[in-house]
Amino acid sequence: MDAQFNFFMPAEILSGKDIVRNSETIFSLLGKRCVIVTGKSSAVKSGALKDIVFALENAGVEYYIFNKITENPQTATCCEGGKIAREYGADFVIGVGGGSPLDAAKAVCVYAANGDIENDEIYTKEVKNPPLPLVLIGTTAGTGSEVSGVSVLTRKDGKKQSVSGKNYYAKYVLADPKYTYSVPAGTTVSTALDAFAHAVESYFSKKHDFLSRKFSCMALGEITPILLKFLNPDYTLSEDERDALYFASLYAGFALNKGGTCFPHGMGYALTEDYGVPHGLACAVFIPAFLKEAKKGDSEGYAEIIKASGVSESELLKLLESLCKADITIPIEKIEEYRVRWATLKNFKNSPTDFGADDGASLVYNLFG
Ligand SMILES: [Fe+2]
Repeated sequence: MDAQFNFFMPAEILSGKDIVRNSETIFSLLGKRCVIVTGKSSAVKSGALKDIVFALENAGVEYYIFNKITENPQTATCCEGGKIAREYGADFVIGVGGGSPLDAAKAVCVYAANGDIENDEIYTKEVKNPPLPLVLIGTTAGTGSEVSGVSVLTRKDGKKQSVSGKNYYAKYVLADPKYTYSVPAGTTVSTALDAFAHAVESYFSKKHDFLSRKFSCMALGEITPILLKFLNPDYTLSEDERDALYFASLYAGFALNKGGTCFPHGMGYALTEDYGVPHGLACAVFIPAFLKEAKKGDSEGYAEIIKASGVSESELLKLLESLCKADITIPIEKIEEYRVRWATLKNFKNSPTDFGADDGASLVYNLFG
């Protein structure tokens, strides 16, 4: 058995009933003032914001709510949040919501502590000062952003690009799946598919290791039976199923943090940017093709993930075929644009076979041309 691995996870992850309401001690330790980075609705609807405010007030911590984060957060918005945090004298930042607010909060911490970095410069300029300490609280089951050192932002030109490294980890993650209970069905499916894609892509990534594959398998074992439930559009997930899905998204996040993503994520960004397809679904539409490549490149690994999913190969492929559909048409000129853009995409190189930009363009043509 080749059990070599290297696991870097600097965030302290705490879970348990009412963990946020009971986090007064953590908040007191972090300082006297904080900025809460979030979007317009999920933090309120889920009850997370109420719990955060309760704990902050008990801790005597003053707070400012920066709720301008939209889906696919812009570097400029995060830079604005950083400026506000700096001027407010924030000692720390709390990011709360789905993947977008969590990724944005990571960037806000970097901008806040580094006034010389503006907007898209976050991709290129050296981060001289350590970012503000960050607490992350997720309200969707999919992104795994809570446990990764990656922030996916949208540049001034509208293209998504990630920035990563030790500056992009939370100090604390407060994990309470109850905040996912209010997520609507459509979003739940798309975010679950995102977690599924994280588990599968990182499993076959060239950067995987022994432990990351274990996390991928753990995630697939929890997520696949829940994806099967989604085949019945009237099925409502129980709280236990919601809990399992949320923790599975963290296991997939651990795997992702090591292996990174492959071509489905790289290609999926384009569908989100240009056609508004939700992130999880946009990546998952390419997972059946990815699995075909994975089977060619690593048949043993392929057998292991089928086993971990707890269903047969044909059941898994049928399930993905049913759930991973996007009703869009992409004109040939756009596909040619993608072909050029994807020629330098790292996600292709991280994939298990030599599937490249030309193959990606043909796949998009077959699916959406
Ligand atoms: Fe993702």
